[in-house]
Amino acid sequence: MSLHRLSKARLAPHHFKPRLGISPGHGWASSYAHAESRIFYYKGLSNRHPTPRQRQEVADIISSGHRHTFHLTDLEVASRQFDKWETTMKGIDPYYAVKCNDSETLVGHFAKKGGGFDCASLEEMKKCIALGASPKKIILSNPCKNDRDIIYARSLGIKRMTFDSVTELEKVRELYPEAELLLRMSIFDKNAKIPLCFKAGAVEKDWDELLETAKNLGLRVRGPMFHVGTGSEGDNSAAYENGMQDCWKMFKKASKLGMKFDTIDIGGGQVDEHLDSIYSTLRPWMDKFPDYVHWVGEPGRFLASPTQTVAVKVIGKRNGSVTVDDGVHGSFSNVLQEHQVLSKELPVDQKGDFTGPVHSSEIFGPTCDGLDTISKELMVPNDIRRGDWLVFAGMGAYTQVTSSGFNGMVRSAEKVLHEEVRQDEYEGGFSSLWPQLKALNPLFGT
Ligand SMILES: Cc1ncc(COP(=O)(O)O)c(C=O)c1O
Repeated sequence: MSLHRLSKARLAPHHFKPRLGISPGHGWASSYAHAESRIFYYKGLSNRHPTPRQRQEVADIISSGHRHTFHLTDLEVASRQFDKWETTMKGIDPYYAVKCNDSETLVGHFAKKGGGFDCASLEEMKKCIALGASPKKIILSNPCKNDRDIIYARSLGIKRMTFDSVTELEKVRELYPEAELLLRMSIFDKNAKIPLCFKAGAVEKDWDELLETAKNLGLRVRGPMFHVGTGSEGDNSAAYENGMQDCWKMFKKASKLGMKFDTIDIGGGQVDEHLDSIYSTLRPWMDKFPDYVHWVGEPGRFLASPTQTVAVKVIGKRNGSVTVDDGVHGSFSNVLQEHQVLSKELPVDQKGDFTGPVHSSEIFGPTCDGLDTISKELMVPNDIRRGDWLVFAGMGAYTQVTSSGFNGMVRSAEKVLHEEVRQDEYEGGFSSLWPQLKALNPLFGT
């Protein structure tokens, strides 16, 4: 819809008065209580506006008196994504990449649904175990680990871990000789927003040396692992094809050295819209490799991105720009770190109607950092004012987990939608073994 048509339409946004639980007539609080807040819903980092149910929940939270930035974790969406992986990527076990979003709500939910976990550190392993994950379903998928991560993994029997250098092999030999290793390969995809192959992964010319060193050190290598890079915007299935060809070559090398490989880990980087295409690429290879091979994936963004919706409050206006109470050092950390761009499409109101008239505005975060800009051109209603809320969908990946709280600003609070699907996920599992684990390992509780 054009802006011209919108301004003619002049659709009325949803108005309501926040219930602050403070009786009128008491200084600053009373004038705040009388201000009318409106809520404007954006596609954010997704291709859809928040759903009617999500909009209702956001409005309820605000009208119940919540005053600061918050994010809504939708467990129904988390279940939907997990189930989509299981039905589309048949035969490939999802090991959720905790680095993408370490919300206890999400980690606990995926554990309950039987998922495994890709952890990078002691803290991530500790969190997964506490929320019900089995050590057998955790991969320490960081090719360069701290000593304490390896020692901790050993104490819990978390055996599988990745490597990509001789130094790492020597470290593992010293600290955890019974570990089961995956050789991380370097795969380049020119479309990945953030290629990971320069930071991690062994190139082909180094594979022989790595496999031979592992063999000479008496270490067990179970197979290859790769990651095509994260944040691809298009169909990146060609990168998985390259990965498969390299896995095939590495299996052959291993067999010449008398090593029996039985695992292939395709890492993360899966794009939601292209999951079918990725699977169609992998399927013929799954038929070609031996039946006993255990296939693993480490999806992060695919599982987490659509699960969270972020709500921020307008706290100021200046020279046509708008300042909100969360920014690039908080929920919008991926705008700075991954150069993510919020959708420029028009916002909708509570009823899902387009709001208007609107204009393009720069949106600043609350800190004193000159880089704290969450959007250079967001469509905001012409009469936007202090106390209004802007709400963005698709904010679950590399957002809260990479936020820093710089300048002491209020951190986004987590709210949960569809608690009913959470069931009894914190009961039983390994969390019930917590006291024994603590006694076993002094690193617990550090
Ligand atoms: C080893 C590893 N696995 C999985 C992931 C998750 O990737 P994505 O969020 O693109 O699925 C990452 C992301 O950096 C990673 O480094």
